[in-house]
Amino acid sequence: MFYTIVGTQWGDEGKGKIVDWLSSKADYVARFQGGNNAGHTIKVDNNVYKLNLLPSGIIRNKKCLIGNGVVLDPWALINEIKNLRNQKIQIDKNNLFIAENVCLILPIHKLIDEINELSLGNNLIGTTKKGIGPAYEDKVGRRAIRLCDLSNHESLKNKIQNLYNFHEPRLSKLKKNLYFEKAFEELVKISAEIINFSAPVWKIINDAGKENKFILFEGAQGSLLDIDFGTYPYVTSSNTSAGQIFSGTGFGIKENHKVLGITKAYTTRVGSGPFVTELDNEIGDHFVEKGQEFGTVTKRKRRCGWFDTVLVGQSIAINGITDVVLTKLDVLDELEEIKVCVGYEAKHKKYSYLPFDENIHNILMPIYETIPGWQKSTFGLTSWDDLPKKAQDYISFLESKIQKNISIISTGPDRAHTIDRNNLLGNN
Ligand code: GDP
Ligand code: IMO
Ligand code: MG
Repeated sequence: MFYTIVGTQWGDEGKGKIVDWLSSKADYVARFQGGNNAGHTIKVDNNVYKLNLLPSGIIRNKKCLIGNGVVLDPWALINEIKNLRNQKIQIDKNNLFIAENVCLILPIHKLIDEINELSLGNNLIGTTKKGIGPAYEDKVGRRAIRLCDLSNHESLKNKIQNLYNFHEPRLSKLKKNLYFEKAFEELVKISAEIINFSAPVWKIINDAGKENKFILFEGAQGSLLDIDFGTYPYVTSSNTSAGQIFSGTGFGIKENHKVLGITKAYTTRVGSGPFVTELDNEIGDHFVEKGQEFGTVTKRKRRCGWFDTVLVGQSIAINGITDVVLTKLDVLDELEEIKVCVGYEAKHKKYSYLPFDENIHNILMPIYETIPGWQKSTFGLTSWDDLPKKAQDYISFLESKIQKNISIISTGPDRAHTIDRNNLLGNN
């Protein structure tokens, strides 16, 4: 069985929690895009694990793969491994495999990320400043350093020099001194530690596919941050949608594949960009406080708003989502009434999808329907029948608008706080 897990909104939907929950049955968990801009939180009893680069399956000691579609900061990886080992998580070359052709994020990429943001002034993207965009630019520009390049120090030196030569004219104008020798030496120092995990991920994953192993593809970010289908230019620099699993790991298209769309019971966003249902009022503040809406990576307060069925509907189509997972239902518990966006309006014209034109984004007004709240605690519930009737009605209303089953409902951060309505895990 193959499962792809993607965020249907602007990230932070609770992908890490759901991947961890599903991992109990998985053999392999693979990341296929993004990098350490991701922040996936997993709670198991009193332990909280924060993952940026490592697939969430590492917590259950599953075989974890980092595919070539990821951009990998080797220093960040070493640090993450160290922190998790301190939390007694086992990580070694028997459970972590990194694609030989993965492209690396170097310190220069973080510097460029920062400079790019500064040059945008008030129109900045609000990136995580992890060097993600500049690293992908170098990949497409065919000058990136890949994991396999670390084995030959002589050619590595030439490649780093080539990369620095490319960036030199712009950065020297900004009076940034570039010392490629230093970058080379620092990379050489850690190369053995990273090469240790290097593996032909494309082969491992296709062999596993042939044996019909249970493989989970763990998406990072969300569909609305996709470089093609997101709210461009306020997006990340990778394809975050399910289609990316193929080019981001080398897995060939196969049958027996489910795509789970992880969807928060309301909407959040970090960084700049349009957000039609954003709430700049006490309900938005309530979401921040009750939902603990602060970024895992940058600690920034997340912008919050009502559920938007237009956007989630778009994500369902683009990703080929088979089942929706609704998270953070418990955050809505206290509300007297809940609004749901069912369309947009601008200049007397109605929209049933988000057009790509930024000028239209800025004038769109949400069309809301109002649903009564349930004002009872759903925190930690594990069965559909125990949900208050009005909470069930809210979920059914969303299903009718997005035209997809909501098969899993998350009612708290712990892996146990999960309702498996259609017995997807087969434990009922
Ligand atoms: P990800 O990036 O999609 O993995 O999501 P994050 O980990 O960045 O953010 C989701 C946050 O919500 C984390 O702190 C989770 O522990 C927490 N969380 C996940 N599901 C639930 C839920 O159903 N209820 C509550 N209250 N918190 C949840
Ligand atoms: P997870 O996997 C939420 C956002 C940044 C910024 C934009 C571009 O935890 O859901 P980048 O550093 O990628 O160039 O920033 O994308 N962003 C995320 N927002 N969750 C994430 O990951 C994100 N990763 C990037 O805030 O707006
Ligand atoms: Mg996150």
